[in-house]
Amino acid sequence: MSPTAAELHQMASIGRLLAGIVHEINTPLGSVFSNSEVLGRSLEMLGPLLAGGSAEELTKARRILDTMQQLVAIDQIACERIRSIIRGLKTIARVDCPEPQKIDLNQHLRDALKLTQAEFRNRVTVETDFAELPEVECFPQMLGQVFLNLLVNAAQAIEGPGTITVRTALEDGGATAHISIADTGRGMMPEQQAKAFEAGFTTKAVGEGTGLGLSIAKEIVEEKHGGSIGFESKLGVGTTFHVRIPVRHARSQP
Ligand SMILES: Nc1ncnc2c1ncn2[C@@H]1O[C@H](COP(=O)(O)OP(=O)(O)O)[C@@H](O)[C@H]1O
Ligand SMILES: [Mg+2]
Repeated sequence: MSPTAAELHQMASIGRLLAGIVHEINTPLGSVFSNSEVLGRSLEMLGPLLAGGSAEELTKARRILDTMQQLVAIDQIACERIRSIIRGLKTIARVDCPEPQKIDLNQHLRDALKLTQAEFRNRVTVETDFAELPEVECFPQMLGQVFLNLLVNAAQAIEGPGTITVRTALEDGGATAHISIADTGRGMMPEQQAKAFEAGFTTKAVGEGTGLGLSIAKEIVEEKHGGSIGFESKLGVGTTFHVRIPVRHARSQP
């Protein structure tokens, strides 16, 4: 069913509106992001300078430094999340209608891990088991958003210490890249499993979850990449998400 002229007109205005909002948010976000980077580096340099002073003062100063460093790391993650929402909006608004790119998926996963690990480093052990993969044709920013979402969900499902295991494998005689993200978290009840991909379904507190992560992930994986996403989950044992992406994007196939 193709949209009517009126609907197209409305979609175009929403697109322009979104593009404007994206621009308005992007500029201040950029400055917060780079400031917090500078702050982080300054804090690192401050550390060694604190060599003098009494033992008691030193301990106190170190503790303050630690706290500040943690806050900076969290700010960076917050900025990165806002940035990924903006990327998502850009896609909807088609501000930059991108072509699929060939990327090293394992490296892309390592980058996503680096971003999230600052948040749960002390609690969660991350294990990786990467297969050798050919370059995968995809929309890297969108897939990055999917991985971030799955990793944050996994970390949030783990109370106390636990493990997240990220694996990649090549399937279908080399036609499909398989990414799995397994956690030793609380798992999901059957009712939750049935609703997990519904937009707006969340079991998290306001501010912690929007219930949009998995529905956006499904849209990105299935609609934008012709792939599949699913999971298996056992209450009290853990959850494993499986993402499968065609190595060659349908758009560039003859
Ligand atoms: N790894 C996981 N372990 C347990 N539950 C999960 C996991 N991932 C998702 N869920 C459940 O699915 C719900 C929806 O996830 P999501 O769409 O990412 O939204 P949000 O994280 O904002 O709640 C979560 O609130 C949670 O109940
Ligand atoms: Mg989520």
